[in-house]
Order: sequence, then structure tokens, then C-alpha cells
Amino acid sequence: MNESAPSHVKEGTVTMDTGELRCDAASGSETSPDPSCAVRAPIGLLAELTHRCPLQCPYCSNPLELEKVNVELTTEEWQRVMRQAAQLGVLQVHLSGGEPTARRDLEEIVKAASEAGLYTNLITAAVLLKRDRLEKLKECGLDHVQISIQDVDTEAENADRIAGYKGGSAKKKEVAGWVRELGMPLTINAPIHRHNIHSVEAIINYAVELGAGRVEIAHVQYYAWALKNRASLMPTREAFMEAARIVERERERLKGIIVIDAVVPDYYAKYPKPCMGGWGKGIINITPSGRVLPCHAAESITHLEFDNVKDRPLADIWLNGSAFQKYRGTSWMKEPCRTCPRREIDYGGCRCQAFALTGDAANTDPACSLSPMHEAWAKVADTESHQSAPAFIYRRPGGATSKPESEKTEKTTATSDA
Ligand code: SF4
Ligand code: FES
Repeated sequence: MNESAPSHVKEGTVTMDTGELRCDAASGSETSPDPSCAVRAPIGLLAELTHRCPLQCPYCSNPLELEKVNVELTTEEWQRVMRQAAQLGVLQVHLSGGEPTARRDLEEIVKAASEAGLYTNLITAAVLLKRDRLEKLKECGLDHVQISIQDVDTEAENADRIAGYKGGSAKKKEVAGWVRELGMPLTINAPIHRHNIHSVEAIINYAVELGAGRVEIAHVQYYAWALKNRASLMPTREAFMEAARIVERERERLKGIIVIDAVVPDYYAKYPKPCMGGWGKGIINITPSGRVLPCHAAESITHLEFDNVKDRPLADIWLNGSAFQKYRGTSWMKEPCRTCPRREIDYGGCRCQAFALTGDAANTDPACSLSPMHEAWAKVADTESHQSAPAFIYRRPGGATSKPESEKTEKTTATSDA
């Protein structure tokens, strides 16, 4: 994925070669480096261009309070962000949302990112895309497309029910075909939960048939909207184990044909995942209004303060922003993480999950079997997954609803990029 890495990128510590910001500037000395120079440059930037989206997925990772269109960064501001990201050493930009194609200026943002030397990945629900626009995006430098699906086409009705969007499943398949016809690499991302876990094998085959190079069997992570819908989405342990067996078998069978990534659901893991690869370690997230976050859910940690790209250079925020420094490294940890041999492997798990479930983001993520809360927490998953699933609470701006906006279809939303 990094074949087009910009030549000025340093693999090691952050240094700026443009004069815009030097990380030793705070020390006032060229010869006595600031200790913050030990921080490595982030590899990836997740740019949430907008929270607008025609889909209403009940596991959306956007915050419950969605940002409105009138606070979104302008074209010029996003273009400046792309240049600053490349100067900082970012290799890849993931253009996400909401639905990034809802922005009319996506082409201009892609062009700026590409000209800055970033590898550009469009993370899209695909239902708003037309073929000529995709061609234009490719001309502007788009390198890769990732399409998220809800289920396979033989289960289109189920897929459209999950997304709250009629006709979405068929449209996604059409767009995936265009991506391959245009010679662009394709990833299929499938968030997995109780309502589609039976389709894991079919999803992998669907991705192979489409010519995708990668398929992500991404068990839903329970933050934000997914936490609200946990009782509806949680699969049983047995269903998860069966899905894991299928993934292992298919990985072996399809070696050299497709890469199968699998994200394990926290509730059935022994140890937590190193969320974001460690806080403030490799990923930077920018919200539609320009707030810079260490992860997409960081705003849920209510005591953190976030800087905005409108007020401060991106490199300065990455190096010195209080939210980034708060849980970077391991010195903030409490027991059992503080003395655990895995502390530099998983960084104590997810700070947002620790905060949501224990009230203290510095606590061990309850996903860890060494957390005093783990047993009670895992029991919740077991109980919920065996009860009948409540109705979805659909993701909607201005408030959740248990009914999707039934009028939402490809036809009515194709021009909704206000
Ligand atoms: Fe990871 Fe902390 Fe659990 Fe150790 S105690 S495995 S560092 S979460
Ligand atoms: Fe925020 Fe895991 S989602 S640290």
C-alpha cells in the first residue's frame, strides 16, 4: 500500500523539512533536541470529510452527536491539511466520513493529497457514486477504493435493511465492478454482527468474484452507535467461533488470491487489541470540523481537549497536543497494565472502551482477561447474544430512530451532496 510513499518521508523521528514547524523549535536549540522528537510520524491520516451519509447503519463509528454541514472544513482547509500531513510524514490518507462522496469538492481534496505525495484511499458506501465521477477521481490521483457492504447480493434485502437504504446492495456491486474496470485496487469491508455472521463465507467469495485484493471481516467494535445497538448486534460465541474457523480455512485456500483481514470482537478475546496501534502512535484522525483526534471515538472521553487544524499546525498538534500526550506511551498506566509484559504490545487496549465501561480511560480495557471487570463484562455479551434481538436504533443526524427513513433510496439521495 505504500508504494507511492513521498520521498521526503522519514521513517524515524519527526523532522520537518519545510520550515513550517520543527519539533526542536520548542527547545530553541539546534543541538539539544526536544524529547518529543522521540515521537514517530503517524503513518495514516483518517480524514472524516463529512458526517453526512445516506446510509443509517446501526454500528456507525461516527459519534452520536454528528457534526453539521455548516461547520465542515472548506476545500482550502482540507487541501492545507493534506500538505501538512505529508510534511509531517503521513504516508496514507483514508478519505472517509460519513460518506466522503457527499462532498462536491472531493476531487479537489484528492488532487491536493495526491500532489502532496500521499497514498489516497477512498472509504465509501458507494451508493452516491457515478462512473464518470469515479473516473474523475482516478484522474485526480485516487489510488485505492474501499467499499463497505452489509451482506452479499443474494441477501440484498437483509443488506438494505441493515443499512436502512433500499437498493444499496445492488449499487455497491455495480460500483465495485467499475473500480476494477478502471484498474484500481479494491478492498471490501464487511462489518460483521449477529445479522450477517452467517454470510462470512459468502462475503469472502463475493469479494473474490469482484476481484478485490483484500476483504476485511471486521467484527463490529462496540463504541458509539454500535454500543447503543449492542444487544441487537452481538453474535453468540459459538457463531463467532464458527466464523473464525471459516476465515482460517479460507485464508489457506485463497492464499495468493485475496488477503483476508479479520478483526476479532473484543468481547470474545482474551487480550484486547492495541487500539489504533497505540494512542498517538501511528494514526491521526480529523473530524469534519477540523478537530484533531488520536482516534475516531476520542471525543467520547469527556475530559480531553482537542485542537483544531484551523488554529494550529498539524505537526504541532501531533507532537504537543494535550489529547495526544495524555495516553501516549505507557507512563499513564495503572495496574495491572503498568507491570504487565504485554503493555507495549496492546497498550492496555482501548482508552475509549475503558472510559465508556469503567469511567476512567486510564483503566485496563475490560476486554482484557486481567481486568477485574472482564468476567462481568463478557457475561453481558453472552446474555445479550442469546436473547432475541431488539430493533435497530438507526444512525440519524438529529437523533436516533428505530425506523429507517424509508424514503431513502439510490434515486432520492444521489443528488443529496448539499
Ligand atoms: Fe494488555 Fe493491560 Fe491486559 Fe496486560 S493487563 S494484557 S497490558 S490490557
Ligand atoms: Fe479510541 Fe480505541 S476507539 S482508543
